[in-house]
Amino acid sequence: MSMKEIVLRLENVYKTYHLGEIETRALRDINLKIYKGSFLSIVGPSGSGKSTLLNIMGLLDFPEKGKVFVEDKDITTLSLNELAKIRGEKIGFVFQQFNLIQHLTALENVILPMLFQNVSEVEAKKRAKELLKMVGLEEKALRRPYQLSGGEQQRIAIARALVNNPSIILADEPTGNLDSKTGKMVMEIFKHLHQDKQRTIIVVTHDSYIASYGDQKILIQDGQIISNHQTRKNYIL
Ligand SMILES: Nc1ncnc2c1ncn2[C@@H]1O[C@H](COP(=O)(O)OP(=O)(O)O)[C@@H](O)[C@H]1O
Ligand SMILES: [Mg+2]
Repeated sequence: MSMKEIVLRLENVYKTYHLGEIETRALRDINLKIYKGSFLSIVGPSGSGKSTLLNIMGLLDFPEKGKVFVEDKDITTLSLNELAKIRGEKIGFVFQQFNLIQHLTALENVILPMLFQNVSEVEAKKRAKELLKMVGLEEKALRRPYQLSGGEQQRIAIARALVNNPSIILADEPTGNLDSKTGKMVMEIFKHLHQDKQRTIIVVTHDSYIASYGDQKILIQDGQIISNHQTRKNYIL
């Protein structure tokens, strides 16, 4: 039996935003361990701190206080370069607004991050085509984002998030701009990545149906974790 391996760990994480005189305590004393191969849903009302939490887990933002470990490495001590390297190698991020570059084709959008990681153009193109095939969009590889539906754009964003073979995939309301049928299609891709590719998936959502894809559900309210429980046990603990 395999041991539970921790891929991401937050210890006493706090985050306060300062906007002029106004202080918002977005996260308060967050403690969290994410095990390899888990599928985690983070739910909670609007403004509860979900995006702040996900951004910190994805190394896109820093805690004000506390520590963040990626596979036992304390990232709060790293230089920006080291941080960018870990983020590029281990983490794939999917946003609610897709964040695709409008003047690039689907294929180019997927290729782009690989060019920052010293992958050759030939290899990058080959890999981007494989990923577009995986999300069912090989035939639309030469379209630009505005020539695609929301669901198609999100599938391209997922392909882009996967280019460097990240072990952890974080998605912030990935179905928030999609109708329920398209949202389900997107979630099926995450399910495939989890079940068939053993990726660790963390999805923020306020939709309970979308949350039901997870094996573990975290409820966050006013910047605090209110509950954290296993909803299904289909991997070895
Ligand atoms: N850049 C920011 N500057 C100031 N306040 C912010 C910023 N980002 C988020 N907040 C505030 O922090 C709290 C948590 O926000 P967020 O993490 O985006 O919540 P959620 O994703 O659950 O809706 C909210 O009160 C929000 O208004
Ligand atoms: Mg949010």
